[in-house]
Amino acid sequence: MKTPDFSTAPPFSREGPTETPSGQSISEPSVVISGTGHYLPHKVLTNTDLTKIVDTNEEWILTRTGISERRIAEPTETSGTMATEAARMAIANANLQAEDIDLVIVATITPDQPFPATACYVQTTLGMRTIAAFDVEAACSGFLYILDIAHAMVRNGPYRHALIIGTEKLSAITDWQDRSTCILFGDGAGAAVLSRSSFSGKKTGILDTTLGADGANGHILQMPGGGCRIPATPDSITSRQHFLKMNGREVFKLAVKVMEKASLDILARNHLQADEIHSIIPHQANIRIIEMLSSRLEIPMERFFINLDQYGNTSAASIPIALHEARESGFCPSGAYSILVGFGAGLTWGATLIRWP
Ligand code: UT7
Repeated sequence: MKTPDFSTAPPFSREGPTETPSGQSISEPSVVISGTGHYLPHKVLTNTDLTKIVDTNEEWILTRTGISERRIAEPTETSGTMATEAARMAIANANLQAEDIDLVIVATITPDQPFPATACYVQTTLGMRTIAAFDVEAACSGFLYILDIAHAMVRNGPYRHALIIGTEKLSAITDWQDRSTCILFGDGAGAAVLSRSSFSGKKTGILDTTLGADGANGHILQMPGGGCRIPATPDSITSRQHFLKMNGREVFKLAVKVMEKASLDILARNHLQADEIHSIIPHQANIRIIEMLSSRLEIPMERFFINLDQYGNTSAASIPIALHEARESGFCPSGAYSILVGFGAGLTWGATLIRWP
C-alpha cells in the first residue's frame, strides 16, 4: 500500500486547513455568535442592604471588590426560569425561532435540581424539538467551556444553531452569615446562539478557545455538601456544608495568573499583539482582579467591559451577561477582535478569541 505523503500538508490548525497544498482557498464553515440575551431578576440588593445582614460597610465592599449592588432571584425564579428568559431573548436577537435550535447546553453550578439537566427544562419550556440538551459544570468558566463544545459541534455538524446559556441562582448556595463571600455574588442568566455560516475573505466569528483546569486547587473554592461524598443530613446542614466556601486571597492570586496566561496563550497562537484587541469581556469577579489583568496585559481598562458594579459575580452567567450588554452597547464593532476570559472553581479557566462579522 502506498504511504500517504504528508510533507506538503498545511500546518495543523484547530480551524482546519484554509488552503490546499497548491494554495487554492477552501471554503469552510465558520461559527458566529448570531444572537445574545440576558435575564436579571428585578430585586436589587445594595451594599447598604448588606450592612443590615452581616458586619460590613459600603466602603469596604466597593473598594475591595468594585461591586455596588447585585440582583437576587425571587423564590419562584430558578436557574431554569432565568435561563429560559435569557434564551428567549437570544433566539429573537438571532432572528430565529425556538424550533430552529438544534442543540442546548447550559453551564451552571446551581441547577434547578441534580438531575434532570436544566438544559432539558429550557428545551421543553421553550417548545423546542427533541434535540440534544445537557448541562456542563465548570463554575465561572462554564460559559467558555460550553462555547468551545458548541463551537466544535456546530462546526463539524450536523448542528446548525446551538443555544448556550450560563445561569445561576447563587443566592441559594450563599452563606448569608459569611461576610467574606455573601457580598460578592448575585443571580442572573446570559445566553448566546452560535450559528454555522460560510465566510469569504477574512475569517470572522469564533476563532479560537483555550481551556484549562487544575484540580489540585479545587479546595480553595467549593461547596462541600450535596454530592455523594457529603449527602444532605441533619449534620451536614447544621455544619453549613451546603454553602459555597472560599479562600478569597488564594483565588484572587490564581485568578490573575491564569487569566493572564490564557489571554497571552490565545494572542500568541493567533499571532496577535495585545494592542490589536479592541475589547476584553472578562469574568466579573472583582474590579481589582481585572485591573491587575489590564496592567499585566498592557491593555487599558477602557477596553475591558465592566458591569460587576451592578450585578456582582454571577459565576457561569457573568461572561454571557456581559457579552450581551457589550454587543448591545457597541463594544464589539464589525471587524474588531474581542477576547472573553474567565476563571472559576475547579480551578478552571479559559479564553476565547472572536472577530465580529
Ligand atoms: O468567580 C470566582 C469567585 N471568587 C473570587 O473572584 C474571589 C477572589 N477574591 C477576592 O475577590 C477577595 O479576596 C475578597 C474580596 C474576597 C476579599 O478581599 P481581600 O482584599 O482579599 O480581603 P481579605 O480576605 O484579605 O480580608 C481583609 C480584611 C480581613 O480582616 P483582618 O483579618 O485584616 O482584620 C477580613 O476579615 O477584611 C475583612 N473582611 C471584611 N471586612 C468588612 C472580609 N470580608 C469583609 C467584609 N466587610 N465583607
